[in-house]
Amino acid sequence: MSDIRVQRRDGEIRVSSFRQVHHVAVLKRLDPADFRIITFRPTFLDPPTLAPRALARALVLATTISTPIMSHPTPPSADSEDPLARLEREFNLTPVQLSTIATRFVNEMRKGLDRHGATLPMIPTYVTSSVTGHERGSYMALDMGGTNLRVCRVDLEGAGRVSVEQETFVIPAELKLAPIVDLFDWVVSCVELFFTHKGHPLPLVDPETEAAQQDSLYVGFTFSFSVNQTALNRGTLLAWSKGFHCPGLLGTGADIVELLQESFRRRRHRIVVTALVNDTAGTLLACGYQDPTCKVGVILGTGTNAAYYETRSALRKWGTLPHEDPRSSFTEMIINTEWAEFDDERDVVPVTRYDCELDVATNDVGTSIFEKLISGLYLGEVVRLALADLHSHKLVFPRLADGADQPFRTAQKTLTEPYRFTSEYVSLIVADTSSDLAAVAQVLADFLGVPTAGISHTDCVVVRTVCSLVGTRAARLSAVGVAAIFTRRPELLEKEEGSTVAVDGSLFEKYPGWVEIMEETLRGLLGEERTRRIRLRLVKDGSGIGAAIVAMLAAQQQK
Ligand code: BGC
Repeated sequence: MSDIRVQRRDGEIRVSSFRQVHHVAVLKRLDPADFRIITFRPTFLDPPTLAPRALARALVLATTISTPIMSHPTPPSADSEDPLARLEREFNLTPVQLSTIATRFVNEMRKGLDRHGATLPMIPTYVTSSVTGHERGSYMALDMGGTNLRVCRVDLEGAGRVSVEQETFVIPAELKLAPIVDLFDWVVSCVELFFTHKGHPLPLVDPETEAAQQDSLYVGFTFSFSVNQTALNRGTLLAWSKGFHCPGLLGTGADIVELLQESFRRRRHRIVVTALVNDTAGTLLACGYQDPTCKVGVILGTGTNAAYYETRSALRKWGTLPHEDPRSSFTEMIINTEWAEFDDERDVVPVTRYDCELDVATNDVGTSIFEKLISGLYLGEVVRLALADLHSHKLVFPRLADGADQPFRTAQKTLTEPYRFTSEYVSLIVADTSSDLAAVAQVLADFLGVPTAGISHTDCVVVRTVCSLVGTRAARLSAVGVAAIFTRRPELLEKEEGSTVAVDGSLFEKYPGWVEIMEETLRGLLGEERTRRIRLRLVKDGSGIGAAIVAMLAAQQQK
């Protein structure tokens, strides 16, 4: 969690350090959509009172909030504007805005392909071949997302058929902030549990002879973070996201595969990590095993990102990258866009005050803005912040303000608790299209811990409207990214058969109407004809299969 706290009071924002409660800055609201810094305490620059990281965050915060909160041309509202109407205006992205964002996206992709260090990283994955579906073999995969670790044994059976034996482990919250060695040791302990539970013998090194490598088990590792890959099985972390911050990786130059391998070695496992894969590339490859027209992989879950096949000639920065791959004569390579980082400069995507509020309380303030507008980790929290604001105007849950009896007093506190309102709630609420909104009332009663009788029909209507505004914005923005990819590679839609986009993630799977919103946005950006050639296809848990496929490709390369 962030050690910076932001409080709003009487049109002022107070920023303070969580640990030392030193008042850092006061930002004055000049008009409803514009805040300016009006005071900085001298102690602000005093190192003992504020750690450098906190100082950096405060500065990001200051620039965040001192620039107009809405960075698009919509005129700021008058204070008298109905708050719900204001929300509609702020969250709704017009066709012109969507097209401006898409154009910028394409430009940023170009920059990321040209040079290192651009906002959109456009990371080469070193996967240069398409799969045919005829590959065979048995491989292991470790698929580490933002919420779970999946340990899988994948059998590629040929003819596009795959069988998977797997077990899912929820990543304990404390490990998301623990030293990286602890996280990786836990991964290894999960592998041991998998072997025990499935009744397979654990491949251990013979203490006498030290078994030869060909007896080892090959593993593909899906590590769903921004990684600067330098080979199929090498890479260093570029940025943490999704609430992870494990010391010992970022900025140390440590190789991720080497560290994980070390954890296996300590436990004397005969397991060799041969491939490092992003979940987007994994999903793309898993789908490609069955469907050769699949050229794009997207994740819309805890985090969000996309990968796609790019041509060698467009990857202009390739020559400047440190690679020892003798096969640099490839024609196409999967590029991991890391689109979470799109528009971190906040030039083009409009953000609301709730997005800013959410951002400053994260441990990666000022980065992954696109992800914070789209992904499942954040969707519910944006809704909660908006609802807390509406509640302060007595526009929702007015009974909670009475504070009369106990459940309602506790409920008011629940509404102030970060991340208590999840994206699962958002999906459940939007799914209720009945006239009495009984399911919405039930979800809200569960969330707040009050009887359904304490939730009015107006509460249900307001909450459903907010959920739908936040969800629709997210789905549209994800479509903008997909449209940008097809604008960069128009040839993928030239043939009548078009292209499949493999998508995994709880939002795509569970948010009602996500696919339709994406398709409608794609039609607006690419036109009817080209959109007709795009198939958005749910590929569940594909990243593990994809990691196994990359482990196979790595084994082939070593021959
Ligand atoms: C990470 C990406 C990942 C995405 C989806 C983002 O936070 O930076 O590498 O693909 O989440 O899991």
